[in-house]
This record gives sequence, C-alpha cells and structure tokens, in this order.
Amino acid sequence: MTPTTGVENTGLSGSRLVDRGVAEECLAALERRGVVIYREADIDDADLVTFSRLLGDVVPLPMGGHPAHREIQRITRDPSKSPLAAYRESTFFWHIDGATAQVPDKATLLTACQVSDDGDGDTEFANTFAAYEALPRAEREELDGLRVVHSFAASQLLVTPDPSPRERAAWDRNPAREHPLVWTRGSGRRSLLIGATAGEVTGRPAAEGRELLDRLLGWATRPEFTLRHRRRQGDLVIWDNTGMLHRALPYGPGSSRLMHRTSLLGEEAVV
Ligand SMILES: [Fe+2]
Repeated sequence: MTPTTGVENTGLSGSRLVDRGVAEECLAALERRGVVIYREADIDDADLVTFSRLLGDVVPLPMGGHPAHREIQRITRDPSKSPLAAYRESTFFWHIDGATAQVPDKATLLTACQVSDDGDGDTEFANTFAAYEALPRAEREELDGLRVVHSFAASQLLVTPDPSPRERAAWDRNPAREHPLVWTRGSGRRSLLIGATAGEVTGRPAAEGRELLDRLLGWATRPEFTLRHRRRQGDLVIWDNTGMLHRALPYGPGSSRLMHRTSLLGEEAVV
C-alpha cells in the first residue's frame, strides 16, 4: 500500500478468513509490512476471537465491556457501550498500545462494526522500523543507549494539559516504565519506541528530552512512513503493535463509530 507498509486483501470474508493458512500468511505479512487489511471481511465476534487465537495468545480483558466475549473490547465514545469511552480522545495522538508494559502487545485486531456517519475516525499508522532505518547513521548512533520514561499520565496530558490534583492522582496509579528509545528485536530488527506515552528522556533536562522526542515523532510520522486506512464497514485491520505507531483521526463524542478490538499478548520484552 506504500513502499514500506501495508498489505490489502480483498475477497476473503466471514468464516473463510478463519483458517490456519490465512493466519500463517497474515503473520508473515505483519512481519514484513506491519499492517494487514482485510477489506469488508464482515467477521462476527466469535470469528474475530477464533482468528485472533490462530495468530497468537489473546489478551483477556477485565473491562472489555462486551457481554459475550471477554477478549473483545468495544472502541467507542459512547459511555453506555464502554467504560473506557472517556479516554478515547487520547487515541487521537500517535501511540502504541501497552507501551507502559514490560512486554507490549504483539498485535492488535480491529474490526469496523459501525463506521462513523461523516467518514471520520480513520486509522493512521506510522512505521517506526522504516523510520529508524532511514535515519542518518550518525543520528542512529546518537540514540544508542538512550532511555525513555513512558506513562499513562504523559498521554493524558496531551488531552488535559492542566489536570486537577484528583485527575493527576488517578493517572499516576498506572505505573510508569522506562524503556530503551530504540527497541532491538531478537531478529536484529530495530524500531523507535516513542509516541504519546513517552514523557521524558532519562538523564536529560525536560525541555531537551521533549525536543528530541518531538523531533523523532515528527520524523517517524512523515508521509513516507505513514499509511491511512480509509475505513469501510466490515473492514478488519491488524497491525504489528510493537513497530506501528497509530492514531484515530478525530471523531466526535456523538459519533456512531464502533470498533471491536482484540489484542495479542506480546512475545518480546523491550531491550
Ligand atoms: Fe491504540
């Protein structure tokens, strides 16, 4: 779909998708291209869970909000459908899911149950493997050994820059975590671990660290590293959460947009 990112499949829908061979091809494409889209796949919730299990271990969710499937989280701004609706605005900023975990989620699956009436709420991806590889060698060397503190609070500050002490205390109940700025996989591939949760660079003055993180985010989200998924009803999109920053293009609190999401447990700690 772009020179570095994305594979689009058409013509596979419903239970035909739930197949070991399809899953193997999907995993290979994720490794190579970061984002895999099945256009108008129209899979139901049970098939979404079964297909997810063919790809890896599915994260069980205590607060999924889905009555029948514990693994499915409903992504919506409607608080009657999801207890997490109030936090959706922070997904309008570039992020990876589970960045404060020692082992971030391996991949995310998102199926479009209801696209928004006015066409907003598309998802954009930025390939941080490609962005890292394209950095000049001297700059890559400068990043070696740097570490970054990721926190839920950093991502919420983007939405609410001036929180009340109570809000701040609630955010801070989610523990922060320090990660290397450059994530080196067992395979030798390297990517930038940045985004909304990245608050400060360890050992650097706050403003200097912020400037570096903002500069790298600006670099990684340049058009040559990004992909916009123009969503159609029934689309299933799957991405390598470890290397693809993503964001939702803003949609309003009254939007009918409804996605069903599953996440796959991470397999590699950040080193
Ligand atoms: Fe996300």
